[in-house]
Amino acid sequence: MQVVTSPLRIGIAGLGTVGAAVISLLDRQSADLAGRIGREIRVTAVSARDKGKERGIDVARLPWFEDAVALAGSREIDLFVELIGGEGGMALEAVEAALRSGKSVVTANKALLAKHGMRLAALAEEKGAALAFEASVAGGIPIVKTLREGLAGNSIERVYGILNGTCNYILSRMELEGLSFEQCLREAQALGYAEADPTFDIGGFDTAHKLAILTTLAFGTAIDAGAIAIEGIERVTLADLEAAAELGYRIKLLGVAARTAAGIEQRVHPTMVPRSSAIAQVMGVTNAVTIDADAVHELTLVGPGAGGAATASAIVADIADIARGVRTAPFGRPVATLATAPYAPMQLHEGGYYIRLSVYDRPGAAAAIATRMAERSISLESIVQRRRKGSGSEATGAVPVVLITYATHEQTIRQALDAVVADGYIAEKPQVIRIERE
Ligand code: HSE
Repeated sequence: MQVVTSPLRIGIAGLGTVGAAVISLLDRQSADLAGRIGREIRVTAVSARDKGKERGIDVARLPWFEDAVALAGSREIDLFVELIGGEGGMALEAVEAALRSGKSVVTANKALLAKHGMRLAALAEEKGAALAFEASVAGGIPIVKTLREGLAGNSIERVYGILNGTCNYILSRMELEGLSFEQCLREAQALGYAEADPTFDIGGFDTAHKLAILTTLAFGTAIDAGAIAIEGIERVTLADLEAAAELGYRIKLLGVAARTAAGIEQRVHPTMVPRSSAIAQVMGVTNAVTIDADAVHELTLVGPGAGGAATASAIVADIADIARGVRTAPFGRPVATLATAPYAPMQLHEGGYYIRLSVYDRPGAAAAIATRMAERSISLESIVQRRRKGSGSEATGAVPVVLITYATHEQTIRQALDAVVADGYIAEKPQVIRIERE
């Protein structure tokens, strides 16, 4: 074994909450880290937009680069930590500059990886550099290492999880406190969980970026975030959360990647999960990932998915690996060997469905709905007409009808609902929430 005794010199670009937390953590743990690794880790230069900003850490002692790309290519560092954010622009330029100069890179940037991960991983492999991104998915949960290394001996069937703390916070608060979606979103923003543009969180895009990375690690397929079917939580109502509770479910925004007969399926959507399942217990800003694999059967990791200290924990773990000389292929296998077969289309998804219809309370309405389902061989587990409640229903004279189906295909459900809408018994667009089996 080659023994390296020189310090590993790090340059950090981006000194927001996470960047400041990384510097604090490295300071606090420096002796212990040096002891574990046999080598000192030293931050030797930084770069950020605003030099004068108060960050609660002393950066005046460190050489300052106005330009992150110049820092990335600088001879003063061995390792570049990218915490700038964004799927392109400065973050992409800087990561490319670092890799081209043969430096390893640590990043928390899921959007960048979802868009350019294959190209960047190929560049890292060509240069013999590491590209490490533990912090990009589920913050402090070591899910990248678990999939890439810990489960290398498994064939994975499904990986799914709560990958966005903001959405889980909103759904939990709505359910437990009966608060509105807008109020809970404002709280999540005030607490600093949400992305700069919260549409990324509530629209499911942040979850999709993270899922794209997990899919590649789990199934050895090339990243294709464009192939992910995405629905956010904007249309989930208190009525859905109440109905879910009565039916023995909870609603979570899940990212799911699964091996199916039609290929690897990737989807992000509000999901009904059995109230007794491990994932249903995860409330608030916490993240969780469950893996179904042949040898370990089922594994669930639960932990903080956002926040400075938790994200810094993942970044420092990557830094420690690189300091030790670890150079694993970024996605667990050489980029050239990743399969590029098309992902399964959402129309072929098979599963149970929760459907909430706002139905005009007229004779024949329920029978017509049941007929439209039966015509397409959709088997109903339950159909319940709920009491009229709330001004919306009273205004339209409609009542909520909740259906639960047995397993059927997405395209079949869509066709049946189109027929139900065309029959004219429905006052609003149907609400459809997929049920995830345990
Ligand atoms: N906005 C993200 C979340 C932060 O809410 O989980 C971590 O990616």
